[in-house]
Amino acid sequence: MKKIYLYGNWKMYKGIEQSENFINDLGEYMEDNSWLRQMLKNDRLEIGLFPSFTSLASAQKVLTSTGLDKMNVHIGSQNFYYEEKGAFTGEVSWSMLNEINCNSSLIGHSERRHIFGESDEMISQKLRSALSNGIIPVLCCGETLEERENGETERVVARQISTSLQDLDNNKSVVENIIYAYEPVWAIGTGRSAMPEDAEDVCRYTRKCISSVLGEKYSGNAKILYGGSVKSSNAESLLNQPDIDGVLVGGASLQVDSFLDIVKSFA
Ligand code: 13P
Repeated sequence: MKKIYLYGNWKMYKGIEQSENFINDLGEYMEDNSWLRQMLKNDRLEIGLFPSFTSLASAQKVLTSTGLDKMNVHIGSQNFYYEEKGAFTGEVSWSMLNEINCNSSLIGHSERRHIFGESDEMISQKLRSALSNGIIPVLCCGETLEERENGETERVVARQISTSLQDLDNNKSVVENIIYAYEPVWAIGTGRSAMPEDAEDVCRYTRKCISSVLGEKYSGNAKILYGGSVKSSNAESLLNQPDIDGVLVGGASLQVDSFLDIVKSFA
């Protein structure tokens, strides 16, 4: 059975207390549910939680104090800036993430691209910086509704993936760390998930794009997640697709029950 990646992007929800409560509740849930303990222990499941910047340090501390950090559960940031330090008002650097042992980050989420105007070039710089500085990047891609309706999905995904990956130091230990997330913009927060076959088509195509830049050696084992209105009722058919290795969840990740229900049928 394949390993499943269950990642929760909390976006601009949950302050410090709520983030800590979630992690404590997750610990209790794990005590009560041996299926979850087994999946994590047997490396059949990896959980990633992506809280807000202000909650990161305390979430990390609670993760360590509950021992969940040793159970295939980790904390990542939703964003970071690629310089180490400097006059970049409002930004948080990779070195600040290193300082709190946060070693993973989303990069190029569609809300960063479309609301905050992040370009392919900026996302590419973030990817490079992450790989050089001990941050595991979760590189997001995906088309808007207009692009899909115009038949441009593959063109957009190819552009987003190839701009990010081109000229990367083709060093196995570094490039292998990249996790990819296909999140069609029209499916995010709309309750309208992609059909499993459609999500599979684009994830397979994403793998092909990775192969054409980095080579098959890296694309075959690349982890590709699907995101966009994932919940327990649609997760199983999405996760059963051969090119979908996991899910990046927004709304349904905010409660422990709805989050873990997503993978329960794989226990
Ligand atoms: P929803 O699951 O709320 O659609 O959000 C998906 C997402 O953007 C995860 O990064």
